[in-house]
Amino acid sequence: MIVCVCRRVSDREIARHAHAGLSFDEIQFELGIAMQCGRCENCARDVVARCSSAHSVAAIHNEAQTVQLANNILESKAWSSSQHLSAA
Ligand code: FES
Repeated sequence: MIVCVCRRVSDREIARHAHAGLSFDEIQFELGIAMQCGRCENCARDVVARCSSAHSVAAIHNEAQTVQLANNILESKAWSSSQHLSAA
């Protein structure tokens, strides 16, 4: 759906930029949204906010997976220092 009629910018285009990590101000500068009549600003900010919160949840999920992987490696018998020393 078109969010900014003045610049013909869709919610997908805004979301693509938000998922790339750009802030509202950066997206506004890049795409020119909310710079003419300004009627699209609230809707555009909503799109960015939704994408940013989804991005944060994904980052937290990835961080948790990384910590779990590190714990699995540390607990793994293959990396046990006593086993490593006895093999040498
Ligand atoms: S609709 Fe976006 S600036 Fe007018």
